[in-house]
Amino acid sequence: MTTRKKLMLLFLLTSFAFTACSKASAGVAPEKTAAQTAALQEAAPSSSQEAEPTEALPTSSGPEESSRSNEQKSAGRTAVVYFSATGTTAEIARLIAEETGADLLEIVPETAYTSEDLNYHDDNCRANREMNDDTARPAISSDFSHLSEYSVIYVGHPIWWGTAPRIIQTFFESCDLSQATVYTFCTSGGSGIEQSVKDLQNLYPDVNIVSGKRLNGASAADVKSWISSLD
Ligand SMILES: Cc1cc2nc3c(=O)[nH]c(=O)nc-3n(C[C@H](O)[C@H](O)[C@H](O)COP(=O)(O)O)c2cc1C
Repeated sequence: MTTRKKLMLLFLLTSFAFTACSKASAGVAPEKTAAQTAALQEAAPSSSQEAEPTEALPTSSGPEESSRSNEQKSAGRTAVVYFSATGTTAEIARLIAEETGADLLEIVPETAYTSEDLNYHDDNCRANREMNDDTARPAISSDFSHLSEYSVIYVGHPIWWGTAPRIIQTFFESCDLSQATVYTFCTSGGSGIEQSVKDLQNLYPDVNIVSGKRLNGASAADVKSWISSLD
């Protein structure tokens, strides 16, 4: 291939990568998705294959290409997943879903938490017992097997004893988040989210948990401003 053709190919590949990334960030997060990376790898000719740019880059709308765009479409989806024992986090989750156009998915415990379960003044209440047991993984009844389709996931939870409730660990361990960019949010009586973000990052180093935000009493405008700060 001539140097001019090589330069042209490089330019076309760079433009394609930029366009792919811009489309992904139209939702929230600018991270390149697996599908985009795969599309780029497919588009680039291997060193042993001397291909012209017009042959190397997708130019037709044949069946192969339309199946690739469908994958990209589903890989670019956004979800808001939340657990809320008393409704405070649920309200914020709803605002985030409205702001981002995301799918709203609740982490539903198999056994709902009663007010006695949540009475943290009682050392022996269910919530405290779970938080005192590193291995506790309260069962959830929601199905999250399709979450690998999402490239951006907001995970919301209340703070229990300075961190996320154990049911959030059940959630992280019940689905494949390896391709997703994850942001967490919480509500609490005053504690921040920092410890919970650190704990989750340590527990799940293979998941891209970027940052978290405490959003008690947030308005739609507050949520909007947080979301746009993530771009
Ligand atoms: C078992 C338990 C432990 C809690 N621990 C904390 C805590 O450490 N710090 C804090 O600020 N709030 C704590 N809270 C208060 C909740 O984080 C707060 O009420 C939250 O907004 C509830 O969210 P939800 O309605 O979505 O469940 C605790 C609540 C419970 C039930």
